[in-house]
Amino acid sequence: MASLTIRKLDDGIKSYLRLRSAKNGRSVEEEVRVILREYCEGSPAPTASPASSPAPAGRTAIERNNPAGQASVTLIIGGGIAAFKSLELIRRLKERHVDVRCVLTKAAQQFVTPLSASALSHERVYMDLFDPGSEFDAGHIRLARECDLIVVAPATADLMAKMANGHADDLASAILLAADRPILLAPAMNPLMWNNAATRRNVMQLRRDGVQMIGPNAGEMAESNEAGVGRMSEAVEIAAAAIDILRPPRPRPLAGKRVLITAGPTHEAIDPVRYIANRSSGKQGFAIAAAAQAAGADVTLVTGPVELRDPGGVTVIRVESARDMLHRVEAALPADVAIFAAAVADWRVANEGEQKLKKTSAGTPQLALVENPDILATISKLTDKRPPLVIGFAAETEHLIDNAKAKIARKGCDWIVANDVSPASGVMGGDRNTVHLLTRDGEEFNVDSWPVMTKEQVAAELVAKIAKAVEKNP
Ligand SMILES: Cc1cc2nc3c(=O)[nH]c(=O)nc-3n(C[C@H](O)[C@H](O)[C@H](O)COP(=O)(O)O)c2cc1C
Repeated sequence: MASLTIRKLDDGIKSYLRLRSAKNGRSVEEEVRVILREYCEGSPAPTASPASSPAPAGRTAIERNNPAGQASVTLIIGGGIAAFKSLELIRRLKERHVDVRCVLTKAAQQFVTPLSASALSHERVYMDLFDPGSEFDAGHIRLARECDLIVVAPATADLMAKMANGHADDLASAILLAADRPILLAPAMNPLMWNNAATRRNVMQLRRDGVQMIGPNAGEMAESNEAGVGRMSEAVEIAAAAIDILRPPRPRPLAGKRVLITAGPTHEAIDPVRYIANRSSGKQGFAIAAAAQAAGADVTLVTGPVELRDPGGVTVIRVESARDMLHRVEAALPADVAIFAAAVADWRVANEGEQKLKKTSAGTPQLALVENPDILATISKLTDKRPPLVIGFAAETEHLIDNAKAKIARKGCDWIVANDVSPASGVMGGDRNTVHLLTRDGEEFNVDSWPVMTKEQVAAELVAKIAKAVEKNP
């Protein structure tokens, strides 16, 4: 029987599980068991499922609607006491870079003002089905379609009854009937209303129709001294459920693969306080580690001294010298892919001082250099634990392609990412990179020259190429 490690799940799924387990007073593991049990029994609990009804196929919802990557939600606010929480929901969605257009039912306007919704959403608020200002171009259809998701919060008993029965006699119900987007309801009502047989029937019908729900939670009712199931979920919970629908889990082509990456410079000690270094910032290696992790790989990053934060979900090992780096790389094997992006010092000081060197009348100290171990060549030439795909970096200041070809042959690696690091290129320490990917086809070299890109883009492109290669030779 396979085991499941919660820590390794997608962040979106983890946050959903945390919220759901906290709400139900269970541990995350217990919550997973409940979900699996419900799934097998075919009766999911009344909470949102993160990806059970994804946005329409093709480009992601975010890309379709907004080239800048901003998702958009039509938020229908129903006439319940919990409507005040929907104002916070607007804020929570906007914090997550989601555009929000609000629709207020007639009853909702008794609880929150259009002005508040408009001020928080920075958008016009829609209230009337027969508004000549927006209906000249079928505004209710646009509100239903020009978004990635429709959220109804609070979803009143009345709105759910209308939805379940296909009514369309006001703007909110007409939008819901005309919608071809995913719909997320956050029901809120008195526990007696929630438990009423009519509401139970409507809830069941809506679930069958593919409508997703979050909540309601158990707790005290705001408008009475009653307690029970009927409280609307908190704004953060609804926002998290909305985000899970808007951003379904990305493909993870490197799932199950171990990727080892080196980054940054090395420091080679002269004495306890001085060292020889280079200008590498580590940004490119860190970006590759983040991209490989996002593609599902189990990533170990061995880095020299850099001022960068650990990429999330990556095992980061910080080292100083080339020899430390080699030891930690060897210890991290086996790996399916090894990417050596570190700018490892070619030489170290042979006569490293045990104490700080002093100025003396004897004159300037003479530093003798010895060659450092060649990490790329050492790993490429391993016989037992050689990773199936070994990628080196060639940072050159002249004759880029020729030097890179010679390096592949000399080191025995499979691919080389060659980049021009002459001062004019601004690559060392900068945020952009211009690279050429050299791969070998027998005796022939393929050179793929990429345009100037950010280091994150280079990382994404490289990881995509790796994923393709891994797919061909699993
Ligand atoms: C003070 C007050 C609070 C209400 N709270 C709720 C509620 O939480 N949930 C609900 O379903 N209806 C609630 N109602 C009843 C709805 O406002 C009523 O059914 C209304 O027609 C709903 O309209 P709508 O669904 O178009 O927004 C409340 C009514 C009042 C007067």
